[in-house]
Amino acid sequence: MIVAIDGPAGAGKSSVARALSARLRFRYLDTGAMYRALTWLALRQGIALDDVTSLEELARENPIEFDEGEGVTIAGHDVTARIREPVIDSSVPIVARHPEVREVMRERQRALGEQGDSVIEGRDIGVVVAPHAELKIWLVADPRVRAERRHAERDGITVDMTADDMRRRDERDAGNTHRAEDAIEVDTTSLSLEQVIDRIERLVRERAA
Ligand code: DC
Repeated sequence: MIVAIDGPAGAGKSSVARALSARLRFRYLDTGAMYRALTWLALRQGIALDDVTSLEELARENPIEFDEGEGVTIAGHDVTARIREPVIDSSVPIVARHPEVREVMRERQRALGEQGDSVIEGRDIGVVVAPHAELKIWLVADPRVRAERRHAERDGITVDMTADDMRRRDERDAGNTHRAEDAIEVDTTSLSLEQVIDRIERLVRERAA
């Protein structure tokens, strides 16, 4: 079974997808981490973020690897922490915008998703990567709560700066963020992580039955 979890930044996708996969004993695939890792490598190699040909080649030649925990590796570098830095936050939408790059990533995401029961987190999973997913969740939350959550994960910036930054990112990510018609919306604004997981787990059990 594939559980697709899509929605904007800060709606709780990562926390929810990770905890849900642990509870269900499904694999967890963080597709945002793949775009982040590629962006990190492009910056490191001095590749311009609008150089589509080089970015596509970079993506083809450097598959992203996930370890059992939360580790992310690209081109032999453990980038787990580095892909969460502000410079990646601001650069990744530019890289993720290129259709040629997305196609390479989507092929990999589909291949990883076919390896067994998976929770796949992203922006376009239910519509493009895994339209056949048995359960599609669209996670949303109030913008202020989203900014506060993102802020809690980052050092050195205020909540207001985070809110502005997220607004800009939402605008840049909008073209790649798709809600599937058959997705079930879960608003996480006033729910605890546990409550969100319980709700989705119930839906998984219903679909599986
Ligand atoms: O969810 P996140 O913040 O880690 O995502 C990082 C970036 O990648 C963000 O700009 C949205 C983009 N993304 C995407 O375009 N498609 C996905 N399936 C996942 C993420």
